[in-house]
Formats: sequence, structure tokens, C-alpha cells
Amino acid sequence: MQPPPVPLDQVDLADLDVFERNEAWGMFDTLRREAPVHWNEEHDGGSGFWSITQYDDIERIDKDPETFTSTHFTNLEEPPAEFQDLRRSILETDGPRHLALRKLLMRDFSPAQLRRYEDFLRGLAQLTVAAALQQEEMDFVDAIAADYPIAVLARLLDTPADMTPQLISWGNEIVGFSDPDYARVLVNSEEAKKYRHLPFSSPVSQEIFEYGRTLAAERKGGEGEDLVSKLVNRIPEDGVPLSPEHYDNYFLLLVVAGNETTRQAISHSMKALIDNPTQMQWLVEHPEKTQVAVEEFLRYASPVYHFRRTATRDVELHGQRIKAGDKVVMWWASGNRDETKFEDPYALRLDRMPNDHMSFGKGPHTCMGSNLARLEMRILFETLLPQVAEITQTGDLVRVRSNFVNGIKKFPVRIVTK
Ligand code: HEM
Repeated sequence: MQPPPVPLDQVDLADLDVFERNEAWGMFDTLRREAPVHWNEEHDGGSGFWSITQYDDIERIDKDPETFTSTHFTNLEEPPAEFQDLRRSILETDGPRHLALRKLLMRDFSPAQLRRYEDFLRGLAQLTVAAALQQEEMDFVDAIAADYPIAVLARLLDTPADMTPQLISWGNEIVGFSDPDYARVLVNSEEAKKYRHLPFSSPVSQEIFEYGRTLAAERKGGEGEDLVSKLVNRIPEDGVPLSPEHYDNYFLLLVVAGNETTRQAISHSMKALIDNPTQMQWLVEHPEKTQVAVEEFLRYASPVYHFRRTATRDVELHGQRIKAGDKVVMWWASGNRDETKFEDPYALRLDRMPNDHMSFGKGPHTCMGSNLARLEMRILFETLLPQVAEITQTGDLVRVRSNFVNGIKKFPVRIVTK
């Protein structure tokens, strides 16, 4: 549904309450139309940022890492210079080293490699859905969306089943770093200053590192096919081995990146189906179209609102002067509603084609797990929908207080099975 318009002088994409109330969409619309390069002050000591909201500009910036670097970090947080190398993962690395680090695991996420997990995924989806459908009333996030992606990741990392709840809680705390319901230490709080050497300024990162190091020590020199074994036993193609810090941060990124994002994509997709019953009916009648529908789910959901770059030189864009050192925020979610790219962008059209959405990014940092996320979503909906006679939302949706992840915390539903 088209959101109500928001006057330009009321736009504030640093205000997390706006996102908790789901009111950012109207702001994105205003910015795309009236101020496609817009300066936004921050309220927590941050230096402010430029919001980029038109699809073509976002794509151009993401594809130009020499002018818009990731090396000064990619969230709004500005880690002190002395801690940046310690906290750096592939996300915050550019150029040939970035490519070498990406190639370490890239082929493991290719569609051909992922095919071998298809049976496992189908079995897992069946188990998840069967357990959830034992009762009619449930919270969709807890019962279906939360555990499934992390259980997939646990399989790829080959961690024991009893670690899965711990992985889920670590992922929640890290990605919900600005939400008091999730984070032990809020990212911009006084207390977080003690943890600025750690990713997301979170003490949880230390726990994830320690677990990752235990796995690495067990698997070093072995023949394992899991992602940890590959990370510790492969040499990047530039010949420079992974430093211990790089290993820590790579491991942490794998635990975090694939968990919350895919969960949100699944929850938003279900919400979109409930809100659009004719579309749900169409998908139930055309299960062979689920792969196409997943692209629209991803566009519509936009599970990650933004990533940030930093200008390396002065640039003029839409009459605004972006200065070297300024933070530049690419709002993927806004690009996904750009009416010059998507006809009727607020409508869910599951057969939309082409559907060149930006939910996974558009440049050299494009999501490495995109094929896995797509596969997980397709298999989950192929498993769930044939069993559902009726699904209704039974209470209010509660959103994560974040302008980074577009998250749903609570999503009460009733599902009547066939
Ligand atoms: C629907 C689910 C997902 C969404 C929406 C998503 C979104 C994104 C986005 C927007 C980026 C940054 C792109 C850029 O800066 O251009 C990214 C990067 C990344 N994602 Fe995902 N992601 C998802 C699932 C996954 C999964 C399942 C994994 C792996 C298990 C994963 C691993 C990564 C990694 C490793 C990067 C860093 C790539 C690099 O810096 O070169 N993601 N993702």
C-alpha cells in the first residue's frame, strides 16, 4: 500500500522510532522525488550522512568502490580508526584483497554447490513446518522463520544441533544492536564504548569469536567439507593467509549475515501473502512459480534497509557537493520502491518480471549468500503453502528498532491446516 506522504522537513532517517513505526517508506518517497541526495544529521554523536534514494544512484555508488569505499565501515557507526583493522571483515575490505577473500568461499555458495543441500533443506523445512503446525495459534517468527535459516547455517558450519539456540541468540543480539529487546549493550550507549574494538561494539562478538576459534582449532589440517574447514585450510588466491582477526570476523559475518536477514525475508513474505489474498491464491495454484515469486518477496521485503559507504574524494551529485570523508548511505529499500524501475512499486505482484531488485546489493560486495537465501525461501514456501487452508494475522506486528535491518519481532498468526 502506498504510504502517506511525509513533508521534506520532517524526513529523518536517523530516527529509529520512525523505523519501529514502519514510517520510513513515505520518507523514501519524498526523498526520491524532492531530494535524491539529502543530508541527514545524526542525534547520537554521529557525523551525519547523505541519503541516496534513487535506484540508479545507489547502483552507481555501489559499483564505484574507488570513490565510495567500504573500508571506513558499512553501517552508520563510526569505529575509531585504531580499531578498524581489528574489526575488518570482507564487508569492509575493497580491491584485490576483497576479491581474494570472497573467492575463498564464493564457489561454496554457487547454485551448483548448493544443490547438494536441497534434500537436507526440504527435510528441515518439513520438520520446521510440522512442528509449528501442531498448534493453530503461533508467533510466525518464533515458530517458523527464526530457527530455519540458522539451522541451515549450522549445517553449513557443521556445528552440533545443541548449539543452534545459542547461534540464534547471538545472531539476534548482534543484528538487533540498536534494539533494547535484543541487545545486552546498545550500540551507541556509554557502555558500548568499552567494546568498540569488537564488531557492532558488542560483547557478544567476543563469545562468537571464541566459539569460532574452538571450531577452527578442531578442523585445522583436516579434510572437512564444512565452511569452517574451508576457511582455515584454504589459502586466498593472493597467497596471503587469513590473519586470526580476519578469520574471527569472517566467521562472525557468516553467523550473522545469513541468520536474521533470511528470517526477515521469510516473515515479510508471509505478511505480504496474508495482506494480498489473491496473490496467495495465485501462488497456491502455481507452485511452479515459487522461484519467480521469491524475487518479488525479496524486493517487497527489503530485509536490509541500507549499507553505507564513505566518499574518498569530493563528488557532485544532483547539485549537492558530497565531500571526501562524508558518509553516504545507499537505501536499498528505497531503490526497491523506485517507480522509474518498478511499475506500481507498492503492489505485490508475484509474477513481476523482470525484477531487478537491490535487496542483495548491486556491486562487488553483492551478497555472497543470495543463492542460499533464495533456495531456503523457495523450499520453505513450497513446503508450507500446500498444507495451509487458512492463515490470518491475530495481533499487532512488532518491528525491530533499527534502520539497518527491516525486522519483525512479533507476528502472531493462526494457521488452519488442510
Ligand atoms: C534474504 C537474505 C539476505 C539478504 C537480504 C542479504 C543482504 C545482503 C546485502 C545487502 C549485502 C551487502 C551488499 C553490498 O554492500 O553491495 C550482503 C552481503 C553479504 N551477505 Fe547477505 N543477505 C542475505 C542472506 C545471506 C546469507 C544466507 C549469507 C550466508 C550464509 C550471506 C552472506 C553475506 C556475506 C558474506 C556478505 C558480504 C559480501 C562481501 O562483502 O563481499 N547473506 N548481504
